[in-house]
Amino acid sequence: MPTPQEIARELDVLGTSARTVEDLMTVIVERLQRHRSHYNWVGFYMIERSLLPGVEPVLVLGPFIGADTPHKRIPLNSGICGAAASSGNTIIVDDVNSDPRYLACSIETKSEIVVPVRVRGEVVGELDIDSHAPAAFTAEDRRLCEHAAALVGAYLERTAA
Ligand code: SME
Repeated sequence: MPTPQEIARELDVLGTSARTVEDLMTVIVERLQRHRSHYNWVGFYMIERSLLPGVEPVLVLGPFIGADTPHKRIPLNSGICGAAASSGNTIIVDDVNSDPRYLACSIETKSEIVVPVRVRGEVVGELDIDSHAPAAFTAEDRRLCEHAAALVGAYLERTAA
């Protein structure tokens, strides 16, 4: 198994060669899930902002690996995902069943990390990872996941108009 530092370097290469941001998110999800055995569900949600007045922004499920989830669209005031996007902070929950914000995807999930993706400081989406193990996410996982999310943000900054 590669170290988190080796995975980060591998993702850096992918960040420079991906043809689209969808491709980049797809390959990040795939590498993280392949190399980190405690990452059981790995996916991106991106914020959809409506031009229509009164329509609230919503997180929309993008590339993911893992069990199918009923949560394909999550309002920013809902779930751990919504909390991370609206606060702009990484959230690690060691025991999802004791967190009242938690929206269940799989009954096997015990812990979760959600890391915002930023473009020029603004939150545009997030990387969400669930583990079947309690308290699975260490400071090292946090660094790796924040690195992966930052790669997507940097890609969008380079390519978005
Ligand atoms: N658990 C998340 C919802 C997403 S699924 O886990 C894939 C939440 O509480 O927002």
